[in-house]
Amino acid sequence: MNPVGPKRKLIDIPDKEFWKVFHGCGGNSARTAKFFGVDSATIRRERISRTQHLNGNASIDELIQQVQADGYLVTKEAQQQDYHFDGVKLFKLGDCKVTRLAFVGDCHMGSRFQQISNLSNFYKLCEAQNVDAILHMGDISDGQRMYPGQEYEVFKHGADAQVDYIVNTYPDAPSGIKTFLIGGNHDESHYTKGGGHDIISAIADKRKDIQNLGFHQATISFGKISVKLMHPTGGVAYARSYRMQKIIEQMPPDEKPDFLCLGHYHVTAFLMGYRDVMGFQLPCFQSQTPYLAKKGLYPEIGAVIINIRWIDDRITGGIKSVNTDWISYRPVKEDW
Ligand SMILES: [Fe+2]
Ligand SMILES: [Fe+2]
Repeated sequence: MNPVGPKRKLIDIPDKEFWKVFHGCGGNSARTAKFFGVDSATIRRERISRTQHLNGNASIDELIQQVQADGYLVTKEAQQQDYHFDGVKLFKLGDCKVTRLAFVGDCHMGSRFQQISNLSNFYKLCEAQNVDAILHMGDISDGQRMYPGQEYEVFKHGADAQVDYIVNTYPDAPSGIKTFLIGGNHDESHYTKGGGHDIISAIADKRKDIQNLGFHQATISFGKISVKLMHPTGGVAYARSYRMQKIIEQMPPDEKPDFLCLGHYHVTAFLMGYRDVMGFQLPCFQSQTPYLAKKGLYPEIGAVIINIRWIDDRITGGIKSVNTDWISYRPVKEDW
């Protein structure tokens, strides 16, 4: 609608006199109309026209307000317009700091189904890609007495043998990249079923490039980026990401990390940005064991490298992008 109307005056009297009568009638259009011997609609149009004339730059919104004050319902059609971002500081990805992290887990060293060659290749890849840190989600060892018949699937028996083997053969990065390690349920078996032997601590004591973060879960920060490492228990749900989803849902809001990384399941799932958490469920470095074959389960062999671009700024800061490299390997037979 056009509430302005024609600029000509409908009643041929000077402005000063019109407003004098109008205010004298208490701003009532009907009484003013009666005074001038015209109808109320004419007075309303007159007011709009004269207001525009008086104000010169009166906005459409102001005129609409006057019409609404007279009891009219005014609606506006939606209109297309350009959006301006004045005052909002835009960022370029090139302005961001970059942190590169590698996520690895479930190497099950000491198992006849370990994938030490693939694992070594992955560490070389981490070096080539200038990874800042490698995070290990547990089950670095195959453990002991995990299920009937496991003793026939390992070639290193007992805690001491597995610790020695890991200390001597677990890959390292010549450039000094640190590996941050939590213990999983297989590592814990040396403690609970093997006379209280904490093999994570024993390995970290002998390998200065490996840092012990304890058993089952830990949270670590790299600058302003927080990562929660977890090694839950139980089997894979029918929907692969279901358990990770439930873990994130249970987290108190003030304890949510930027990244959650799960070991234990041996199959991959990603939940990007689920309830403000980037969730990674990892593949492993152990091929299909007879135990898994009996259950009809196929593990995935591999690991993940993520490139995090972030800005350290109070207003526009935070994680701006996450690139994920999912590194996949074919199983190597008899790799021990
Ligand atoms: Fe495992
Ligand atoms: Fe596990």
